[in-house]
Amino acid sequence: MSALRTGAPAVTGLELDAAARGAVVAAAEAQRGRAGALLPVLQAVQAALGWVPAAAVPLVAEALNLSRAEVHGVLTFYHDFRRQPPAPHTLRLCRAEACQAVGAAALAAHAQQRLGCGFGGRSADGRFALEAVYCLGNCACGPALEFDGRLQSLASPLTLDALLAEAGS
Ligand code: FES
Repeated sequence: MSALRTGAPAVTGLELDAAARGAVVAAAEAQRGRAGALLPVLQAVQAALGWVPAAAVPLVAEALNLSRAEVHGVLTFYHDFRRQPPAPHTLRLCRAEACQAVGAAALAAHAQQRLGCGFGGRSADGRFALEAVYCLGNCACGPALEFDGRLQSLASPLTLDALLAEAGS
């Protein structure tokens, strides 16, 4: 985890503190003049800050000599880019075919009920993000989920409840 993500002053979507601003500028400078620089720059910003604040868009646009609309378009097109700070805990459920065949739909319904949100949403307290993924490379042992980066095979509602309890839910 980046030092900027731990213990740094708050970075809002509309303002960047000096450290965050420096990270954005450094990411853009590292790629300046290279073809196809925009994606690597946005990836580097997300790696440094944990997300890509809206306030980074004009800095990146200026450094790469692009319009803000171009940067915003790419940022919003790719769902892997986070446009808000990451939740403390992330639950990713596999919704691809092999997992669907062995109970992923019931697991998804349980997760949504437990967290009180849909896919792409967060629990009311903001502590848990729920994301859909389409294959975690664990098809033979589905349903598969990933909780805070840890892969769980043969997941069930009980498994999920245990993971959430461990995380304080
Ligand atoms: S289909 Fe779920 S892990 Fe591959």
